[in-house]
Amino acid sequence: MDLQIVNDKKTGGYVGFEIFKRALDNGAKVLGLATGSTPISIYDELGASDLDFSQLTSVNLDEYVGLDANHPQSYHYFMQQHLFNQKPFAQSFVPDGSNLDAKSATSDYDQIIAAHPIDLQLLGLGQNGHIGFNEPGTDPESTTHKVALTESTIAANARFFDNVNDVPRYAYSMGIGSILKSKQILIAAYGEAKAAAVAAMIQGPITPDVPASYLQTHPNVTVILDEAAASQLD
Ligand code: F6R
Repeated sequence: MDLQIVNDKKTGGYVGFEIFKRALDNGAKVLGLATGSTPISIYDELGASDLDFSQLTSVNLDEYVGLDANHPQSYHYFMQQHLFNQKPFAQSFVPDGSNLDAKSATSDYDQIIAAHPIDLQLLGLGQNGHIGFNEPGTDPESTTHKVALTESTIAANARFFDNVNDVPRYAYSMGIGSILKSKQILIAAYGEAKAAAVAAMIQGPITPDVPASYLQTHPNVTVILDEAAASQLD
């Protein structure tokens, strides 16, 4: 793993932007995208740049089950606000949270990923080591699946909702196996609360208890961290 330690999230945004730019220069056509607070500084840089995504495809990691694309807390909506309005792609895919039939929603999404192999996948890191919504215990060969969110993830995401009871209990997530098929992976983490998960991801054993530890098996991973997130590394 290539570690980039930065002063702050804003600098992480520049570093992440440069990695996207290089990937595009090298012919990347499909970008795997994430939501949450971590990627925002990268999206700010991408959105303000002169990069052209109009011929590219984006594929997002996950979506809450039960929220349609227009719901303000849906990941569809997040992506519109933070990137797609500024930088439209030729086509953008996010799992269909409004499709309550998990079998068709997940198999449709696997077909999309198979038809659009991901050149560069951006990830954030959960405090419990999750990537996408692949919580501890997820099969490392998993494809897109319906996930029951853990209490810690529900609590962490409650800040985006009026009330913790409004946080959806299920999500559709790209699997760990699908994430690992991406040609290149960029993961960022900021802040003390991520420090233990960062250390487990990079220096811990490869184990289903820490889904992000499977990134150690991928040949092309860049990790952007601030000092606080890197503070438990040896
Ligand atoms: C979001 C996602 C999640 C987040 C993770 C970190 O699409 O897949 O794995 O990346 O929960 O979230 P933040 O960045 O809000 O700390």
